[in-house]
Formats: sequence, C-alpha cells, structure tokens
Amino acid sequence: MNEHWWRSAVIYQIYVRSFADSDGDGVGDLSGIRSRLPHVKELGVDGIWLTPFYPSPGADHGYDVSDYVDVDPQFGTLDDFDALVADAHRLGLRVIVDIVPNHTSNEHQWFRNAVSDPQHPDRARYIFRSGRDGEPPNVWTSAFGGPAWTLDDASGEYYLHLFTPEQPDLDWHNGRVREDFEEILRFWLDRGVDGFRIDVGQALYKAPDLHDVHQPEPRPAFADWHTGINQAEVHGLYRSWRRLADSYPDERMYVGEVVLENQVELAKYVRPDELQLTFNFTFLYEDWNAKALRARIDRTLEAFGAVGATASWVLENHDVTRLPTRYGGGEEGRRRARAATLLLLGLPGAAFLYQGQELGLEEVELPDELRQDPVFFRTNGARKGRDGCRVPIPWSGGPPGFGFTAGSPWLPIPADWTALSAEAQEGSPQSSLALHRAALELRRRIDALRTGSFAWRASPSGTLLFERASGNETIVCVVNLNAEHLQLPDGELLLASEPAPGNLLPPSSAAWTRV
Ligand code: NOJ
Repeated sequence: MNEHWWRSAVIYQIYVRSFADSDGDGVGDLSGIRSRLPHVKELGVDGIWLTPFYPSPGADHGYDVSDYVDVDPQFGTLDDFDALVADAHRLGLRVIVDIVPNHTSNEHQWFRNAVSDPQHPDRARYIFRSGRDGEPPNVWTSAFGGPAWTLDDASGEYYLHLFTPEQPDLDWHNGRVREDFEEILRFWLDRGVDGFRIDVGQALYKAPDLHDVHQPEPRPAFADWHTGINQAEVHGLYRSWRRLADSYPDERMYVGEVVLENQVELAKYVRPDELQLTFNFTFLYEDWNAKALRARIDRTLEAFGAVGATASWVLENHDVTRLPTRYGGGEEGRRRARAATLLLLGLPGAAFLYQGQELGLEEVELPDELRQDPVFFRTNGARKGRDGCRVPIPWSGGPPGFGFTAGSPWLPIPADWTALSAEAQEGSPQSSLALHRAALELRRRIDALRTGSFAWRASPSGTLLFERASGNETIVCVVNLNAEHLQLPDGELLLASEPAPGNLLPPSSAAWTRV
C-alpha cells in the first residue's frame, strides 16, 4: 500500500522569531531559516512547521495577524518565503504554515472597519454584543487571564476575545469569514505549501446562545470544561477545507491544534473526510510514570484507531515548559527526556519535534523584566508565561549571539548553553543531537518502526515494552522509567538512550532492539 506521507511523518516546529536571525536585529527571520535548513535535513525529519510570520503588531508574537497573505517585514518578504519553500523542497522537506482562523489582530483592516463604523459590514465578522447590567455579555474568561470581553467605547458594545483584547474572535457563522479564509488557504496552497497547522482548531464556532460558562478554579491546564466552544459546525468547515486541499496535487494536509482532553472527541477531527492529523497533547500533561503513560497511549490508539486515523505524539512546543525541566530538570530531567525521545519516535503515527528539543534544551528562568508573553502580564505574573521555552537556539560559539544572531538576541541565551550548542554537540556520539539523528535515521530506514503494527509486551512495573512489526521484522521498544535495571530482549540492540552494559537497561532510559 502506498502510505500517505503524513501518517508517519516527523514534523519539526520552527518558532520563527527564535530560530535564526540573518540581519542582526536579534529576531529570527525567513532567510535565517533558509541558512539553517541543512541542520533540519541532517536531523532527518520529513518537514517543517513555521509559526506565524505574517504582518502582526506582535501582541501575541504573531498569533495576532493583521494581514493573512503577506510576510511581516521583520521576518522578510514573500520572495523570501518562496525561496524558503523552494530550498526546503529541494532538500525533500515539506513545509507546513500556521493559519490563525479563530481571531485576527485588532489592527486587521476588518476590525478597524468594525470599530470605526458599527454599520460597516465587517462588524458582522466579529462577535459584538450588548453588556448585561453594565457587565460583559457573559462570564467567559480569556485563556490568558481576565474577561473574554472588552468594551468598544464608541458603540458601548463588547467584543469577544478568547485570548488578548488585541485578538478579537471572528464570527464563523458569518459567510464572508468562511469565504475569505478559503481564499487565504488557496493563496498559500498556490505558493506551494504542503499544509497548514490550524490554531485553536476546536474554538472557531461559539455556541450561538453564548451561554455562561464558569471557568473552574484553579483553571485546569487541560480539560474540556468550556461548553461554549467545540461546536459541531466546525466539522463541516473542516470537511470543506479537506476538499479544498484534496483538489491540489501532492497530498496537502492539515494538522489541527485541537486542545481537547477527551480523546474520542479529539479523534472526531480526524475522521476520514476531515483533517489528516491533530496534535495529541496527552503527553504534555503526564509525569514520568509508566502506568499513566501507558493508559494515555491506549486511549489514543483506541480513539484514533476507531475512526481509522493515524495518531500523533507531541512532547514539546512553544506553549509549554521544556521537557527536561518538566521531568525534574538537571541530569535526571535530561536523561528522562532522552528516553522519552525513543518513546515518541517508537510509537505508531506522526510525531512533532520542537526546535531545540533535539539539543535537550531546558526551560530558561528569565527575570520578570525581560518577559514578553501576554500571559505573564494578563495574570499579573501569577502565570510566568511561555518565554522560557522560546529562547533562541544556540547554534555555535557563546554569548550573546550563539550563532543565532550577530546582534543581541530578543531574549538572552544562557551563557552555560555553550556546551549545548548544535556545534558543540556535533562531534559527540553521546549527545542529545546524535540520539535524535540516530533515532530518526532508523525510523526512516526500518518500515517496522515507521509504519509497522503495534502491540504491548508484558514487562515489569515501572517499564513500558512494546513491539512494532512489519513483514518478518520486529523491533521492540523498551522504556525503563523507574524499575531496577531491566534486561533487554535478546536481539540486536539498535539504539539506547544510555549505555546498557550487559544488556541491562538502567532507569530513566530507553532502547530499541531488533528481535
Ligand atoms: C495557540 C498558539 O500555539 C499560542 O501560541 C497562541 O498564543 C494561541 N493559540 C492564540 O493564538
């Protein structure tokens, strides 16, 4: 069978402002990315996902788009974009771009028109409502803290924003919004992109009655309490988007950022005629615990399998604390993160890697005065925000620029990252970079690992052991979370995240064995 490329793809996320800076202004850009594509190629992934590079005032670092069909001058030009796509394609890398359909920037022309004249047709693209007794229309809260409504002084009405007030939500019940986004998708498809990552994919349609939904306290990091979003209409929209993508050659695809804890609900987004992939954030909210991880894997495989979809796996992205830090930090956190790499890439389905994950970077503890994330400001510092995982990549050398920039990076790169730079890890077979490269190389070469069947094997408590099989080849993936030294199965040891003398795998490590 000819396997769809995305079913087992590994996609590398590039957070554009932090990847590589070509002009010395301290902020990454498209030309910078071009110069570092060889690193991505050598890593061995199938494609890249670029976070938003569109014109934006930057209230949420690009997730507040003021023009969907152009490039922000700080990141380059449309010509730079075309050149980047051409380079990537020449190297055999697919290119996924981010689409932000839930909200625009408040500086988008549509919103400017909407507030400058309440009779303007663009007003209907957004969700303006009268207040209730001098209060907002309902009790919804913004995901970044504070109310989800802001008063438009001129008209006395409130507008809805699930994120910052600079990110007004679009009204997807409005036909023009739908038509315009189809044009936007076509614009990028015509330019040769291989697909889209859909921002806040579950939230586009709001319950028409905008009923009160009280945010649980404390606010859960991951739970499906908001009954005013995840409305059934969104599936019809994605079916139409799928038809659009399918009208282009070469299997263009969508990956939904669908933030739902319930895997059965999540899998609805990847039914055969909807999105091809959705992020599966289940690992982001789990500790280093074998039983709990196994339960999450089972839930995912069952729910996605039931709709005939491929699963996907995520350990890091630009919104969450870096993995080694989540796993306790220091040497132990780094060991666990290395082991988790072999879990991530050993499981069936697609996988996502976040830039710097291959270097084993930890979360950076930044002084408050350097923080930029609106989450920090809108919660008065109660939530520190996401800057710590967005620190630029240390490519080579040392402070301040680390080969990321000839100037001064927009967030400081820790001085002790000298030993973690891509250049420093290059020659070391024990490095995180070497482990990622080796794992990705095996995954590309061995069908069983990439597309083979999956089955658990019995294993002691505190460990995970499963096999991937194709034809007459079987690979066993072993993760020893916290058991005593674990005997590896007989066979050829292909890769281990730590030395396993005498075929005994130490705690906080993982291995792949051909049996
Ligand atoms: C999800 C994105 O990943 C995040 O960075 C952004 O702040 C929100 N969506 C709002 O667009």
